[in-house]
Amino acid sequence: MPIDTVQTPVALFDKCRQFTRAREAQAAGLYPYFKPISESEDTVVVIEGKKRIMLGSNNYLGLTHHPKVLEAAQAALHRYGSGCTGSRFLNGSLDLHEQLESALAEFLGKESCLVFSTGYGANLGMISGLVGRGETVYLDKLDHACIVDGAKLAFGDTQRFNHGDLEGLVRLLERNTTGKGTLIVVDGVYSMEGDIADVPELVRIANRYGAALAVDDAHSLGVLGPNGEGTGAHFGMQQDVDIIAGTFSKSLASVGGFVAGDETMIHYLKHHSRPFIFTASLPPANTAGVLAALQVMQEEPDRRERLWDNARRLQRGFQNLGFDIGPTTTPIVPVLIGPLDTTFVFWRKLYDAGVFTNPVVPPAVPPSQCRLRTSVMATHTSEQIDFALEAFATIGKELGVT
Ligand SMILES: Cc1ncc(COP(=O)(O)O)c(C=O)c1O
Repeated sequence: MPIDTVQTPVALFDKCRQFTRAREAQAAGLYPYFKPISESEDTVVVIEGKKRIMLGSNNYLGLTHHPKVLEAAQAALHRYGSGCTGSRFLNGSLDLHEQLESALAEFLGKESCLVFSTGYGANLGMISGLVGRGETVYLDKLDHACIVDGAKLAFGDTQRFNHGDLEGLVRLLERNTTGKGTLIVVDGVYSMEGDIADVPELVRIANRYGAALAVDDAHSLGVLGPNGEGTGAHFGMQQDVDIIAGTFSKSLASVGGFVAGDETMIHYLKHHSRPFIFTASLPPANTAGVLAALQVMQEEPDRRERLWDNARRLQRGFQNLGFDIGPTTTPIVPVLIGPLDTTFVFWRKLYDAGVFTNPVVPPAVPPSQCRLRTSVMATHTSEQIDFALEAFATIGKELGVT
């Protein structure tokens, strides 16, 4: 039989046709994702024609609308154009990238820094670039997905320990008799829980077992430390953290990421990290915006104070209302709701009341522990926080959650 008359069904798309859960939630009006924002005034956004308080961003210092950030981005757009159209390795390096790398290295107290096009790519590129065949990377089970993916991309082995279980980490390290390189990677602040990694104990363990320690400061930069330098600085141990990874998409109000550490390590990554080499570089406007945001962050330390005042107001408010906010001690405040259905209904009622939050559901959390992740900004007013708390109180009572 000639080959072009044979019609075999394409099995590949079966799973796509069978995936109906999201459509069911959409039909019920309970689908909380991909809500398009049509206007943004910092803490207030317009979605589906209505103003809502943004209680679900990572714009911790409220710098996305700062005049100096916008001016710097505009000037770079006009000077360098809209994009770099190539990899840092080849035609896509700007003097702005190098200025940003120097400024970050100095701010973080590290020898050197490398800018990536996303925070996701920074962790992906750092781990896959460093952990070679026969070597091992140790991950906390609640590490961010890009850390997990970085380990998958690496040629070395991966071992995972339960969240915060550093005795478990020690047990895994004890079993490693390869004598080859080892790397421990943790989130500085856990993005869905808001708790802080125990850096002093991690440093002790890393030293004892000759492991390198990498901390992902995505949610710590601008938030923790005397000047916002992150988790290591928060514990007075910045020099003991070998590698700091981070993102520009949170406190620094843009997109992009970085890895900072010793010059030899950064030089190696520049020549071995595929997610760094084989992608186009950070666009000029973003790079200049991040440089300006880094400057503003240092010139306006009161923003961090306001962020923490707001974080405490929100945490206390939820606790006084009887909500369970778990182990958070940071501006990330997850509110435990329970089953998925109740969480989506709670989210919808808040949304209708003018408060935007993020539902966190399986597989990110166990089925009975769905939550609404809230996070504050330095620029939220007390009235906005109290308004959101009142909405939570009313809906919580109605749904029997408190
Ligand atoms: C802990 C953590 N690391 C890395 C990333 C990735 O950063 P980006 O979104 O800037 O690529 C995120 C973002 O959600 C994060 O929460």
